[in-house]
Amino acid sequence: MSETQDKGLAADARSAGARVGLTSDQIIINGGRPLRGRIEVRGAKNLATKAMVAALLGQTTSVLRNVPNISDVRVVAGLLALHGVVISKGDDDEWILNPENVERAHMADIDAHAGSSRIPILFCGPLLHRLGEAFIPDLGGCRIGDRPIDFHLNALRKFGAQVAKLSNGISLTAPNGLKGANIELPYPSVGATEQVLLTAVLADGQTELRNAAIEPEIVDLICVLQKMGAIITMEPNRVIFIEGVKSLRGYNHRAIFDRNEVASWASAALATNGDIFVVGAKQEEMMTFLNIYRKVGGDFAIEDDGIRFWRGAKKLTPVVVETDVHPGFMTDWQQPLVVALTMAEGVSKIHETVYENRFGFTDALNKMGAKIEVYKDGLDDGTRRVKRREFEQAAVISGPTKLTGANIEVPDLRGGFSHLIAALTATGQSEVSNIGIISRGYENFIEKLKTLGADFIYEG
Ligand code: EPU
Repeated sequence: MSETQDKGLAADARSAGARVGLTSDQIIINGGRPLRGRIEVRGAKNLATKAMVAALLGQTTSVLRNVPNISDVRVVAGLLALHGVVISKGDDDEWILNPENVERAHMADIDAHAGSSRIPILFCGPLLHRLGEAFIPDLGGCRIGDRPIDFHLNALRKFGAQVAKLSNGISLTAPNGLKGANIELPYPSVGATEQVLLTAVLADGQTELRNAAIEPEIVDLICVLQKMGAIITMEPNRVIFIEGVKSLRGYNHRAIFDRNEVASWASAALATNGDIFVVGAKQEEMMTFLNIYRKVGGDFAIEDDGIRFWRGAKKLTPVVVETDVHPGFMTDWQQPLVVALTMAEGVSKIHETVYENRFGFTDALNKMGAKIEVYKDGLDDGTRRVKRREFEQAAVISGPTKLTGANIEVPDLRGGFSHLIAALTATGQSEVSNIGIISRGYENFIEKLKTLGADFIYEG
C-alpha cells in the first residue's frame, strides 16, 4: 500500500470518528481481525532522546537520523531550543542540532516544557559543562513506581557537582568544574549510566563506572559519543572506562531501531493471530524476546531487512518470565506479551524485577475477561532464576480466557499498547481512552494500525 493510500484510509477513519463524537484521545476498536502487513520500526525513543541531549556537548552541529516522530522527542527538542540549540529538520526523519550558542533558560520555561518526560535529568552534565549550572524540573514519565533519581545525584556529586533541592526541581552548580570519578551503581540503571557517560566525557581526568547498564541503546549512545571525539572503553563485567577530553564536536548518526516497538508489534501479531513484517527489526538485539516468543507459540523469520512475526502453534503455551536488565527480558516487553498469555493454556507468571509498579494495565485486561492476579510484593515460588529484588511484583495469568470489548483507559505507555492489542483481540467493540500517552513512544501508531488492517474509528 502506498503512503498516500495509507493516509487516505487514516483520514476515512478520522471522519468516522468525528461523526460519533470521539476526541483525539480516544479510539474505538472492533476486535477480532488479525493484523497483517508490513510496517517499519523507527529509531529508538530511548536512544534518540539521549543522543539529542548529547548534541549539547559538541562545539559543532550534530545530525541525528531515523528520529521517531513521538512526543518525547518533541519535549527534548523544546528543552534544547530553550537552551539556545538551533534545531532544524532535514529529510523526514533527520534532525539537525546546532549547539554553538548554548545559553541559560528561564526556570519557568524549562518547567513548563519538561512536563511529561524523564529525559531532562540527563541535561545535568551537559549543561554543567556548557554553562556551569543547570536547573532540572520535577520529572514526568510513566507512573510505574517511585522512579527516584538518587543514583543520578550521587554520581553527579562524585564528579564535583553541588546539588540544591528546590520546590519545583533541583539546581546544580560545579564551582570547581567536573572531575573524573570512580562510581559504582547500586543497580545497572539505564538513566544513571547515561548520566555518567554524558558527564564523564568532558570531565577532567578518568572515570570508571562499575555495574553499568549495557543495553543496546547505551552502546549506541557510546557510539554517538565516540563519533564526537570521546574516549570510552566497554570492559567485561559491566565496567565502562571513560577518559575525559577537552572538547567534543558534532556527530552524524543513525539511531538504533526501537526494540520496544518491535516487541509490541510482534506481540500484536501473536495475540491477533496475524502476520506482521517489521522492517528494520534486527535479530541480535531481540534475541531474548525471540526465545520467549517461540516458547509461547510465536514464530518468526529473520530477513536481512527485518523480522516477520506470526503465530506458529495452534495453541499458545504458558511461560514464566523474569524481566531484567540487558541481556535479560526487558520490562517494556512484558505488557504487550501478557495479552497473548491470556490465551495460553495454563498458568503464566511474569516476575517484574525492574520497576515496582508495572502491572496497572492488567486491571483493564481483567475487566475484559482475563484472569490475572497481581502479587504486589512479588512471588517466591521456586520458579525464579535470579535473586529476588526488594520491591519486585508478579502477575499470574491463568488461561485460556476470551477477551470481550470494554471501555478502558490507558495508564502508561507500554500498558497502553497492551490495551490496544487487547481491544484488537477482543470480541466486540472497545473504547480505549487516554491514547495520547501511546504517542510518547510509538510513531504514527494509528496509521500503522490502519496499514495492518485493524478495524477502528479515530478522530485525530
Ligand atoms: N532507580 C533508582 N534510582 C535512580 C535511578 C533508577 O532507584 O536514580 C531504579 C528505578 O526506580 C528502577 C530501576 O532503577 O526500579 C531501573 O531504572 P532505570 O534507571 O534503569 O530506568 P530509566 O533510565 O528511568 C529507562 C527507559 C525505560 C525502561 C528502563 C529499563 C528511558 C527514558 N526510559 O528508564 O523506558 O523501562 O530504562 O530499560 O530511557 C519506556 O520506554 O516506556 C520506559 C519506561
